[in-house]
Order: sequence, then structure tokens, then C-alpha cells
Amino acid sequence: MERRRDRPRHSGSQSGASSHSKADRDRSEGRYAHKRVRSAEDPPGSLPQSLSTRRQLYERDFPVYKQPVEVGVFSLDSKRNFFNDSRKLRYYVDPGKSPNFSLRDGYRDRYVKRDDGVKEKLDHILRWILENRERLQSVHSAPDCALGVDFITWRGHLTKLLTTPYETQEGWLLAVSRFRGTLYISEVETEAARVSRENRTGRHEEMMYWGYKFEQYLCADDVSSVPDGGGVVNTNEAFCTVVQTRLSDHKLLFSGEVDCRDKDPKAPPAPACYVELKTSAEICTPKQRSNFHRYKLLKWWAQSFLPGVPRIVAGFRDQDGVVVSLETFHISKISQLIKNEHNCWRPTVCMNFCSDFLSFVKSVVKDDDPRLVYLFAWEPHRDVSYSVHRDSEYNFLPDWYVKEMTNHHAPKKRH
Ligand code: A3P
Ligand code: MG
Repeated sequence: MERRRDRPRHSGSQSGASSHSKADRDRSEGRYAHKRVRSAEDPPGSLPQSLSTRRQLYERDFPVYKQPVEVGVFSLDSKRNFFNDSRKLRYYVDPGKSPNFSLRDGYRDRYVKRDDGVKEKLDHILRWILENRERLQSVHSAPDCALGVDFITWRGHLTKLLTTPYETQEGWLLAVSRFRGTLYISEVETEAARVSRENRTGRHEEMMYWGYKFEQYLCADDVSSVPDGGGVVNTNEAFCTVVQTRLSDHKLLFSGEVDCRDKDPKAPPAPACYVELKTSAEICTPKQRSNFHRYKLLKWWAQSFLPGVPRIVAGFRDQDGVVVSLETFHISKISQLIKNEHNCWRPTVCMNFCSDFLSFVKSVVKDDDPRLVYLFAWEPHRDVSYSVHRDSEYNFLPDWYVKEMTNHHAPKKRH
């Protein structure tokens, strides 16, 4: 199926440029290269139709990014059922001496894999919002904005935005709807991503398991228990934090999966007690080290910096999936670590691009209507563009959410 072929045509003055139009190509080749946000013919007062992703445009002072505050948590069980609690939170257990974990163990017989063809969109976050709206509303009481935040999304979607100025391989599609003053951002799988997901090699499938198996070796289910390397790895299970923060003038509420927490009761409150776990191929040459700094650390930094997770415990593995060493990376020290890499990524570019993208979305998505989706599209070496869709396959705010929010959130009448 070619998803983009049967898109409705762009409508009226709200329409954006398709990412492959000639005008767009001209613009991305530099005609308006000094501008981040562009309008096709630049008539006064017109909407910007695209956003450049060129790094140089985002090399300015680091924007305000408030310390993220955890406003809630939720868990998903082995069948992907939602629970408004921390039952799936796990505890980090330092393995002490040099580990010798085999990440291949259990792949054939103790692995339950989540069906990644099922698209859950924002559903779990929306469920969390409905179950916690009183708490949210008491914090913010903006009359024109039911929830008091500008954007609601997954952390993973923001990670993709942060890394966009440096991404050369994979594009993205982000669907946006405005509802009761808040902009909801939900990813749509690109055709290229679907094709590669449906055609993974056996080796790739197994390597995806390795990251989860690593978690199992380091995480205990209870504060006083130890990890069970002989158990089943079930990737349906998840513990998610919900955080609030602000990037420039954008108030954000997003959720992200957390691998585990420090088990010391004296550890700082969440999210500072959380620990991210990662695996990576062992580094044997200067070239491999440089690639690790340039590509992997960018993604690791972006993912953990956003929710304020302060450290990553990384397991370096050999070709056979045996972890040969462990190393802790402190998020606050990563930018220092990559300083010697020539022409490397910069956190300020990531954050400024994200901030400008959110401003672009705010300027474009003015209609408050959960059945209207603005689809923002980006391919490497192009500008971000968008198209508008009413009552389409891209709708993602479910009726149960819209109804419940509308019934319980009628604007308060002034007396
Ligand atoms: P690694 O991080 O060790 O690669 P996360 O690190 O985000 O908590 O994700 C846990 C594991 O899920 C990853 O472990 C990896 O095994 C798998 N995973 C996550 N995102 C993936 C992706 N885009 N492609 C393949 N595997 C992925
Ligand atoms: Mg992880």
C-alpha cells in the first residue's frame, strides 16, 4: 500500500507544500537558505509552509529547558493492559565484577515479543490523562486550554525531532491535531519504516532482543530481590514516566519508557533516580569510537536528556552477543565527551531545532478540531513540510477521549 498516494489534496490556504515539489527543492537548495521558516512566495501575513533542518540555522544559545518534573507514572503489563501505577518499575542491580552475560540466551524459548504492527498512537498517554485530569487541572488553570499544556506527545517522538538536523537515513511523519487548546503529536509510520520492519533479517530480529535481555540481567522486580536471567523476556511490559517541562515558550507534557531506578531509598526523587540501559558493539578501533560518539551518543543523549534521566549504563557486547564490559555515561558529561570529535553534533542545535519546529507547528495548526490532522513530513536533505487531512486515516484522537474530555471539561462560565 502506498499510503501517501491516496492522501486527500491539500485544502485551501491551510495547505502546505508537498516535500517533493520543485518549489520546495529550490528552497532547500538555498534560495531562502538564510530563513528557518519559509512561505512559498512570501506574501505578507501568509503561513509558513516549510521549515529548514540545516544545522547552521540552529547554532545559537541553548534555549530554556526547564528541569523536567514527573507528574505521574503508568505501567503496561504482559498483555499491554494499562495500570495507573508503578507496578512494572524495576530496580537496577549493579552486577559488580566484569559481566559475562550472554544476550542470546532465551531468544528461542523465553521471549514474548510485542506486536509492533499494532499502532497504539497516544492511547496510553490519553488514558493516563483521563485518569489524572484533576491533578493536571489543579496545577494549570488556563481558561482557554483545558490541560494547561501546549503539547502532548511521546518522548520518542521528541527524540526524533532533536536528532533531525543530524539524521541522514530515516525521515518521519508526525500527525498533529489541536484539541481544546493543546497540540497532540502522534507519529505515523513511514512507508520506508514499514517496509524495513516487515523485512527484518533473522539476525536483526535477534539483535533487537539483545537490548531487552540486557535489561533482564541488570533489573530486579522488587527493591530487595535480584535479577532473574532465567526468566521470560516479555517486551509488552513497560513502566512509563509522565513528565512536564518547558522548552522556550512551549509547555510540554510527554511520557517515556523507563528501564529501571536506583534502588537506594536515599536516591533523589524521579526522574533523577532513573537509569537508562543500553547495549552497543564493543569498541576496538579509533574509527569505531568516533562513530559511537557521532551517532550512538547523539541518540542516547537525546533520549535521556528529554525526561531528565541522568545516567546510562551501557553494556558493550561482542559479535556473539556476550557483554564484555559495562560503562556508565552521565548525560551531563556527554557533550564534554564528544568535544574532541571534529564536526560533531551539538545539543544546542538539537534543542533549538525542536523549539523552532514546535513554534512552526503552533503557527500552522490553528483550527481546534480533533478530526483535523496536520501531517508534518520530513525526509533527509529536505525541509519539513505539511499537509492537511479531515476525517482521514490519520485521525488519532479516539472518540472515547474526545467525548470524555468534552463532557467533563466544558469551559467554566464566569459569573
Ligand atoms: P538497546 O538500547 O540496548 O539497543 P531502550 O534502550 O530505548 O530502552 O530500548 C530497549 C531495547 O529495545 C533496545 O536495546 C533494543 O534492543 C530495542 N529497540 C528499541 N528501539 C529499537 C529500534 N528502533 N530498532 C531496534 N530495536 C530497538
Ligand atoms: Mg534502554
